Amino acid sequence: MSHPPKKATAVAHPNIALIKYWGKREVERNIPAVGSLSITLDGLATTTSTTFDPGLTQEEFMLAGKEAPEMRRRVAECLNLVRSRTGTSGYALVESENDFPTAAGLASSASGFAALVVASDRALGSRLALSELADIARHGSGSAPRSLFGGFVELRLTPEGVHPTETRQVLEPSAWPLRVVVAVTDTGKKEVGSTQGMLLCERSSPYFGAWVESSPGDLAEALAAIQRRDFEALGDISESSCLKMHAVMLSARPGLVYWNEATVKCIHRVREMRAQGVPAFFTVDAGPQVKVVCLAEAVDHVATAMGEIPGVIQTSESGLGEGARVVED
Ligand code: PMV
Repeated sequence: MSHPPKKATAVAHPNIALIKYWGKREVERNIPAVGSLSITLDGLATTTSTTFDPGLTQEEFMLAGKEAPEMRRRVAECLNLVRSRTGTSGYALVESENDFPTAAGLASSASGFAALVVASDRALGSRLALSELADIARHGSGSAPRSLFGGFVELRLTPEGVHPTETRQVLEPSAWPLRVVVAVTDTGKKEVGSTQGMLLCERSSPYFGAWVESSPGDLAEALAAIQRRDFEALGDISESSCLKMHAVMLSARPGLVYWNEATVKCIHRVREMRAQGVPAFFTVDAGPQVKVVCLAEAVDHVATAMGEIPGVIQTSESGLGEGARVVED
């Protein structure tokens, strides 16, 4: 007897880390070397549909309507985990769309894998716990569990726990509605992907050990600043974590330079604005885009200032968003 296809669609938003994850404790299960803290954005979104279809003879993954073979292995790994934890079988067709540039330092993999596990779970009707979904999403991308949650999100290492990492919401979006201006300085694909970059840094940066050792303190400082709603303190520790991560990248052999000229101009401009009393700080991931976090009152000013910088192709504004959720089944 043949079964009809089972389909569900989920939406997830990218997140940006204020306290960064860089490095792997274990490659096999994709366990990060450090904990991290992020905010989930509402202005950008990934929509992913999973269809488990008995008529398929292999897994299929389409990104923006085109086959994306480079992602197929990681997508299949997540699907295998969903199937093994739910005792189901059968291949799936996964169709994913981003409303922002892919693989350019805007965490498209985070929102992509978060949406994938939520859609797959619903399509199979398995109702796995959020902690299980987070564990599965981590195999796709280390930052993906964070996009399962909204607002301020912490991912911590739990060497003694059921799962090696645990992800939780620290604050709801409405509890401290910060704004984010994303300044896009290059829409191309990054040259060195994050996994490759992390392994290179671990192997060759003399600063990698210090990075791992100092991370728990940074995380604690940021969590305390969030509890106090202390924007200045959060900005201070976030910029430090970002620059420290880039120092590790720059000190690898060969050094990883993810920035371009406009990236550096944006960083200086944010610091100038702050000196003039504008409540804003920057963060930059494994790519050349600059994300400026600010208080709501400053968002127009920040967006205009970023848009005027030579080399900034486009700016977008975001508030803090919700976690991944099913939109159709
Ligand atoms: O989850 P990945 O493999 O895309 O790595 C993310 C790494 C950074 O974006 C640079 C930092 C972070 O914590 O998001």
